[in-house]
Amino acid sequence: MKTESSRQEYYIDKCRKLLEDKERELGRKLTYYDQTFGCQMNFKDSEKLNGILEAIGYVRSKSEEADFVYYNTCTVRENANIRVYGRLGTLKTYKKKNPDMLIAMCGCMMQEPEEQEKVKNTFTFVDIVFGTHNIFKLAQLLYEALITRKRVFDVWEGTDEIVEDLPSHRKISFKAAVNIMYGCNNFCTYCIVPYVRGRERSRKPEDIVGEVEQLAREGVKEIMLLGQNVNSYGKTLENRTTFAQLLSMVGKVDGIERIRFMTSHPKDLSDDLIKVMASSSKICRHIHLPLQSGSSRLLQKMNRHYTREQYMELVRKLRVAMPDIAITTDIIVGFPGETEEDFQETLEVVQETAYDSAFTFLYSKRSGTPAASMEDQVPDDVAHERFDRLLKVVGETARKQNKKHEGETALVLAEEVNERDSSLITGRLSNNNVVHFKADPCVIGRIVPVVLEEACGFYYLGRLASDG
Ligand code: 5AD
Ligand code: SF4
Repeated sequence: MKTESSRQEYYIDKCRKLLEDKERELGRKLTYYDQTFGCQMNFKDSEKLNGILEAIGYVRSKSEEADFVYYNTCTVRENANIRVYGRLGTLKTYKKKNPDMLIAMCGCMMQEPEEQEKVKNTFTFVDIVFGTHNIFKLAQLLYEALITRKRVFDVWEGTDEIVEDLPSHRKISFKAAVNIMYGCNNFCTYCIVPYVRGRERSRKPEDIVGEVEQLAREGVKEIMLLGQNVNSYGKTLENRTTFAQLLSMVGKVDGIERIRFMTSHPKDLSDDLIKVMASSSKICRHIHLPLQSGSSRLLQKMNRHYTREQYMELVRKLRVAMPDIAITTDIIVGFPGETEEDFQETLEVVQETAYDSAFTFLYSKRSGTPAASMEDQVPDDVAHERFDRLLKVVGETARKQNKKHEGETALVLAEEVNERDSSLITGRLSNNNVVHFKADPCVIGRIVPVVLEEACGFYYLGRLASDG
């Protein structure tokens, strides 16, 4: 919506003027600090928030003692909430030293009325609260807070609006994430996401392709297409477009060398998608395919709409079409009613699929979701014990998969100087595995051939191939 983005440009301008006055008064630039919790969606939202803050004139700081601090929160599991409140306390002391400091909270946690109330009543030093549906309004909310010096709360229950064309700030210049859809309609019974991110809304393919073309012009080589369930992309569009069709369109953009996407729901993964992936040299050889449980009985209770057998059939098709594909997953342990037999089935699927890696989670009760009121909640000690066993098996399959490519030469996108050893460059293979290798930092941003000399479990130590 052009009108909304111009409205926000207007507020960016207004805030910039206020900030310039403040800079003159203090004789320094004003800083911001961002703390993001949760998934790639939240990190993408933070890029947009940072873009707005930088357009206003804030300079990014590594210290939390900044003039504007925001927490972009996650609520998918309970420990995410605990971490946020744990950290928030320290901000209070910084604010005492710098009374002009502004503190904002946004993201999924703020979509929950109880959490909003908690911030309102307990964390009274928080100045601005907004949600997942109106991040584009940051400049307007900030302006209101600066002018009125009052606390600003603005959380929307839902929206049909998709506001684009506002500034965005990327940390890595040659990699970018692109939202293709927002929200989720699946209502898996354990999951709070559909309640805090709202109904599924797809962006128009021409807008997505336009953004990717612009990114390519800016020098981006790798893009990550983001959605809670990318395989159901396009269902809400007037001119229906499937995710497979969208991928083909994006694959035609010159300059983009690698395409990734996340997350795929097994129930909607089509043969067409597998075909498009297999026939494209740009689409990375990696799929993140959340299993959640290997037991068809539990999958039904989770409202996942696939069985163990259907999932394994997908894995088979993917491996036939792309023998070198890496498959990763999400698994929940301790879902209500999970028996030892159910859990054994999960272990079997992990072994049969031979995952390259897996995110494993202890089931966390989220109030308002159907699973929260299910009987037979699994005792903590039982869930923990299963979790440890699962981790072991996942570690074994990951190491086995990793070992497979030892000695091969593969193309690596060189991403950054290694944090621990500055003589090494860290990059990623098409299959998303990490590789550390000795090279001059000038290779960063390039795709170079690397010999995978040693498989170290979850990463490789490599050597630049002579023609790199
Ligand atoms: N408890 C544990 N894990 C959860 N996830 C989502 N909701 C819950 C919950 N209530 C996990 C799922 C999902 C990932 C993003 O988070 O595995 O795929
Ligand atoms: Fe949550 Fe299921 Fe939607 Fe993923 S697909 S966000 S797990 S409801």
